[in-house]
Amino acid sequence: MIISGKELSARLKADMAEEVATFPAKYGRVPHLAVILVGEDPGSVSYVTGKAKASAEVGIRNTTIRKPATITEAELLGIIAELNADVEVDGILVQLPLPKHIDEDRVIAAIDKTKDVDGFHPLNVAALWQKQPCTLPCTPKGIIKMLKAAGVGIAGREAVVIGRSNIVGLPVAKLLLDENATVTVAHSRTRDLAEVTRRADILVVAIGRPKFVTADMVAEGAVVIDVGVNRDPESGKLCGDVDFAAIEPKASVITPVPGGVGPMTICCLMENTIECFLNKQK
Ligand code: GUN
Repeated sequence: MIISGKELSARLKADMAEEVATFPAKYGRVPHLAVILVGEDPGSVSYVTGKAKASAEVGIRNTTIRKPATITEAELLGIIAELNADVEVDGILVQLPLPKHIDEDRVIAAIDKTKDVDGFHPLNVAALWQKQPCTLPCTPKGIIKMLKAAGVGIAGREAVVIGRSNIVGLPVAKLLLDENATVTVAHSRTRDLAEVTRRADILVVAIGRPKFVTADMVAEGAVVIDVGVNRDPESGKLCGDVDFAAIEPKASVITPVPGGVGPMTICCLMENTIECFLNKQK
C-alpha cells in the first residue's frame, strides 16, 4: 500500500478550513502565520510557497517576509521581536537553513515559545522530551498521523530511524517511543547499517541522500516512511532517500516522494498555527 500524504493532507485541510471558517464569528479574526525566508535557496522558496498556498486553502492569514541572504543577525532578530510583540500574529516560522553568518539556535530561541509553530524552541523541545503539552514539530507529527491513518500498529514494534537531526530524526524517535515502539536511531556512523535496518518493522528515513536505502536493507513486509526530498542525479527528478521502485514491492506500506511526508508536514504546520491561535483565545 502506498500512503498518499497528498490525499490525507487534503482531507485534513478541508476539515481545518471548515473549523477556521467559524473563527471570525467566535473570535473576531482568523489565525495568522508569519513566515520569514532569508535568501533564495530554491528548496526553501518552494517550501515557503507551499506554506502560503496551504494557508490560503485553510483560510489562515499568511504573511511571508522575504529578506536577502545578506541580512544581519541583528536585523533578523529585530523582525522576530516585532512579530513576537504583534498580538495579531499567532505563529512565526523562520525557514531553515539560514546563511552561515547567522546563528540558527539564537534565532530559534528568540521566537516567542507560544508562537513557535515549528516546535523548535528549546522550551518546546524540552516539553516534548518530558511528555508535557507542547507544539510538536511538523514532520514527526505528520509521520505519526500517516502511520495511524494507514492502520499501522506501532506499540511493541521495532522502529528504526535513520538520521538524528533536531528537525526530524530525534523528535520522530521520541514520538515513536511515546507510541510504545522499540526505537533504534541509526546514523552515518552506525556499524552494519543494513543489518540494523533489516530488523525494522517500521523504517523512517531522514538522511538526505538520494535513494540511500536499497532493497537489501529492508525486510519483507516492512513499513517504510521516506522523509527525503532530493534531486535524482540521473533523472533530475525529485526523489526520496529510499529507492522507491525497488522497495515498493517488498514493503507492506510505503510513502512516495513527492506526495508523501512533505504535504503532511505542511498540513501539521496549519494545525499548529490553529493550535497556537486557539491557546491564545483561552
Ligand atoms: N527546513 C526544512 N524543514 C523545515 C521545517 O520543518 N521548518 C523550518 N522552519 N525549516 C525547515
